[in-house]
Amino acid sequence: MSPVISAILFTLVPLATAYAVLDQRAAAVVPEQPLITPSPTLQHAVTKTVRRRGILDDVKGDVKGILSDLGSAIPSYVASGVPNFFQDFPVGQDAQKSLGIDDDQVDALPTSVLNIPGYGNWTDRGWNLRFHGNVYKQPPTSQEKLDDLANIFLIDTDIKDLAPDQQAQARNLTASIFVLQQDNENVTFNLRPAPTAGASGEQGGGGAVTPNGGNQQIRFPYPTTSQGDFDAFVQIESNGLADGNSTSDIQRLNVYTEGSNIGNATAYLVPPNGFSIISDIDDILRITKIYQPKEGLLNSFARPFVAWKNMPEIYANWSRSIPDFHFHYLTTTPEQITRNYMDFIYKTYPGGSFDTRPLNFSDVSATLSIRKFLLDKVFETFPKRKFILMADTSNSDVMKDYPQLAKDFPGQVQCIFLRNTSATDDGDRFPYDTSGFQDLDKNTYMFFKVPDDLKGLDIQNGQCVNTTITQNLTFSWQGLPFGLSKKSAAAPRYTAATSSWVGMVVAMGLAAATFL
Ligand SMILES: *[C@@H]1O[C@H](CO)[C@@H](O)[C@H](O)[C@H]1NC(C)=O
Ligand SMILES: *[C@@H]1O[C@H](CO)[C@@H](O)[C@H](O)[C@H]1NC(C)=O
Ligand SMILES: *[C@@H]1O[C@H](CO)[C@@H](O)[C@H](O)[C@H]1NC(C)=O
Ligand SMILES: *[C@@H]1O[C@H](CO)[C@@H](O)[C@H](O)[C@H]1NC(C)=O
Ligand SMILES: *[C@@H]1O[C@H](CO)[C@@H](O)[C@H](O)[C@H]1NC(C)=O
Ligand SMILES: *[C@@H]1O[C@H](CO)[C@@H](O)[C@H](O)[C@H]1NC(C)=O
Ligand SMILES: *[C@@H]1O[C@H](CO)[C@@H](O)[C@H](O)[C@H]1NC(C)=O
Ligand SMILES: *[C@@H]1O[C@H](CO)[C@@H](O)[C@H](O)[C@H]1NC(C)=O
Ligand SMILES: *[C@@H]1O[C@H](CO)[C@@H](O)[C@H](O)[C@H]1NC(C)=O
Ligand SMILES: *[C@@H]1O[C@H](CO)[C@@H](O)[C@H](O)[C@H]1NC(C)=O
Repeated sequence: MSPVISAILFTLVPLATAYAVLDQRAAAVVPEQPLITPSPTLQHAVTKTVRRRGILDDVKGDVKGILSDLGSAIPSYVASGVPNFFQDFPVGQDAQKSLGIDDDQVDALPTSVLNIPGYGNWTDRGWNLRFHGNVYKQPPTSQEKLDDLANIFLIDTDIKDLAPDQQAQARNLTASIFVLQQDNENVTFNLRPAPTAGASGEQGGGGAVTPNGGNQQIRFPYPTTSQGDFDAFVQIESNGLADGNSTSDIQRLNVYTEGSNIGNATAYLVPPNGFSIISDIDDILRITKIYQPKEGLLNSFARPFVAWKNMPEIYANWSRSIPDFHFHYLTTTPEQITRNYMDFIYKTYPGGSFDTRPLNFSDVSATLSIRKFLLDKVFETFPKRKFILMADTSNSDVMKDYPQLAKDFPGQVQCIFLRNTSATDDGDRFPYDTSGFQDLDKNTYMFFKVPDDLKGLDIQNGQCVNTTITQNLTFSWQGLPFGLSKKSAAAPRYTAATSSWVGMVVAMGLAAATFL
């Protein structure tokens, strides 16, 4: 096996192993030699050969150069901006099987609800509020079992070698992945005006106000999906809420789920006009280092979340100084692990609505389109609001989707801000494509290095560019090693090669997912 292929397969192994462990049927598949030694309880690891035809033939030496420059563990997910250690979490019966518990035991467990903070728009029939989340049961799992399962997700690290607080977090997160999703369940919510600090403990609230009413009970009109998800807009009663056509305030409601004391969330009723920010989280609001797999895993799985430099100061200023600024946090992290994200955001940044990756988008191909799907939904819900879009260059889906939104929804994208991750972190050796920005007005976007670059910008009046930050942009692949970047501008041959390299890595992820 070529070193390149094995390097790529290496990164797919956690996924393969996780899946194989969950699915005993994997034993029926002809096993190939596992590439890492699984821990004793996880012996079912199998990987199927991924499709190789035409990949290396097309790109020859250039690819090897890029791959070797990125290090040994070549993350297929970096190409998509989505960590593959957050792929293929168990759904349906898989978790139950892997934990070895029977149906009677499951029946006896209490039901839990993950309620994700929603947004609502004003329509000619009143407020229309999006409810989304998941209904599940948390099985009791021994620490030993949790450790085995957690080790599936860690690269080059055994949970036993982590500090006790990190062990606790890794177990906590692992437990939240191995939950039993409940299909065909009815969900009922009680709405109440939310005081300044919402029920989920969040601070601020992006300038939102506590309404004078809104009390009501909502029976969600559809049963949960086969994966326990619920996600739909529901027309709610006014009951003392301010009409969206007579206020510019964002009104904040607490949403309590009946029968689950961890199913609380705050919802935001957002009037038709005004400004909203849609912000990614990893490597822009917190230090993740998605592009360095081992670090990315530890930062996501075991270590406490840490804000990226003084970004909280920038958001706090915007929350205070821009009237009725709606904050919407959009991450493609799977919903099972978003409680950590929400806890961190609401302790560190202004309160706001939230989007995460629903379970029916769990396969890799859907993963690549989820961000656009969620972004389109927000834009379609607020056709008159103007948006500030925030993320970093290490997400190839962002690099494609953000400029596309400016084209799909003319006049609605006020500013696009992208942290140039490689400018401040030489650990990010991953190339990114700026070609989507070629047709955009240069005054509407900025690549920046540190949060201070965003200071003093009057974004409300369309000042999106800090003239002291040099924008020396060519519209092509950036950050390629060995001078390929320059050549790619001059010689399209290299651009084609590098595009197909990214395509290859994605394709291999897809192929692997299909075969596993
Ligand atoms: C706001 O909309 C409601 C419902 O469509 C309507 O009854 C009301 O007259 C409108 N108010 C204003 C100030 O336009
Ligand atoms: C994870 O930790 C949080 C905060 O301590 C706790 O509320 C939650 O119940 C834990 N989740 C699991 C699955 O253990
Ligand atoms: C959900 O509600 C429907 C309609 O009221 C009812 O027929 C069904 O039995 C309920 N399902 C559960 C699991 O309670
Ligand atoms: C996932 O479910 C949502 C509704 O909950 C639906 O709109 C969407 O099309 C589904 N996506 C996929 C990939 O099945
Ligand atoms: C959710 O709301 C209920 C009812 O007010 C409250 O008892 C419970 O403590 C809340 N839970 C959380 C996690 O905020
Ligand atoms: C409100 O949001 C829904 C769901 O996205 C959308 O279909 C509808 O057009 C929006 N209504 C208005 C008046 O913007
Ligand atoms: C990002 O930073 C790197 C390193 O400073 C630089 O070479 C590159 O041109 C920058 N990219 C953009 C889009 O500004
Ligand atoms: C521009 O960036 C510099 C350097 O980070 C910062 O000091 C300054 O406040 C920013 N804003 C403006 C409007 O220059
Ligand atoms: C705070 O945000 C406002 C609105 O965009 C801006 O005008 C002001 O310069 C910002 N202040 C700082 C210190 O960044
Ligand atoms: C802009 O980029 C080009 C090519 O990457 C380089 O030759 C030039 O020196 C850069 N200009 C500035 C002002 O950084």
